[in-house]
Amino acid sequence: MTNATMTEPKSNRTAATDTGAILVSGAGGEMGHALLAALAHRFKGQREIIGMDVRELSQDRAAHTSASYACDVSDAAAIDAIALKHDVSEVWHLAALLSTRGEKNPELALKVNVMGSANLLKLAADSATRRGSAVKFLFPSTIAVYGVPTLALKRAAGRVTEDQCLEPITMYGVNKRAVEEMGRYYARHYRLLAADRAECTVDFRSIRFPGIISADTVPTGGTSDYGPEMLHSAAQGKAYACFVRPDARIPFMTMPDAVRSLMELADAPREKLSRLVYNVSAFAPSAEEIAAKVREFFPTATMSYAPTIERQRIVDSWPEDCDDSAARRDWNWKPQHDFNRAFAEYLVPKIRARYGC
Ligand code: SER
Repeated sequence: MTNATMTEPKSNRTAATDTGAILVSGAGGEMGHALLAALAHRFKGQREIIGMDVRELSQDRAAHTSASYACDVSDAAAIDAIALKHDVSEVWHLAALLSTRGEKNPELALKVNVMGSANLLKLAADSATRRGSAVKFLFPSTIAVYGVPTLALKRAAGRVTEDQCLEPITMYGVNKRAVEEMGRYYARHYRLLAADRAECTVDFRSIRFPGIISADTVPTGGTSDYGPEMLHSAAQGKAYACFVRPDARIPFMTMPDAVRSLMELADAPREKLSRLVYNVSAFAPSAEEIAAKVREFFPTATMSYAPTIERQRIVDSWPEDCDDSAARRDWNWKPQHDFNRAFAEYLVPKIRARYGC
């Protein structure tokens, strides 16, 4: 994402209120790409931005950082070494193995998604103690934490609240749900600091994201990937066989809205937040509705359906949509892109420019 297309969120923060370093894990991933640019746009030159990824960051991403590390989040010693070098006051923990990839190697997903999160939560807690002030911890969670047992119940449930249907069927969903709880523990109970020294704790804030569609990148290893894959394939003139049924329905959101939601949650005054974990919602099309929208802009696109049992089962277990009234009430969340605007104003113009089509 370029700065030109990034809608700069309203900020309650100034460089004067927090000059500590911002640590971003998974900086080489899909959300990392957009988030690093947004953080650099706002903070470069005022605060250290430290990018971390299991692979070396590409030059364009590293340019947004003041330091970058190739390091596995599940390697506690490597995380400790980074912690010693920087005065971290904010952690944006994006690194994760997504749902489809996690089912191929559940033990690796557990290691990266849970142990990696444990290492970074500990880093945040230690840093808060050292600094004598709370360290913010921004954590993208997911609709994969939900698990609806049958299609009939999925349809009956409609928009689920944060507290319904929490029986995930994927290792990824189980891992993300576990980290939400670990975040609650560190924020409220760790060493009983929360009772008398609330300012020295981890200020854990999390958003359960729907499938995310970006014009700049395509996800890997997720189960909502059919949305972005349909569009990017059509724009490149490639045939696409969708791995879920036409009637499969889950919520989606554009990448700019996703990044903006995280930044707005980070900015919100703590006392306004009634929860640690929030749903956000934008639009919830079926696969068939996405295909029809793609055809509006790319009429010659060749799209077919070849559902796979495993991925269909995962999508069927996720809710049709999420109730985000808590986010709207507590920190004024509102998506910029509904389904039509997402395609007409953001995805299609940028994708046409990108692929020259
Ligand atoms: N995009 C994720 C996945 O498909 C869901 O949050 O795994």
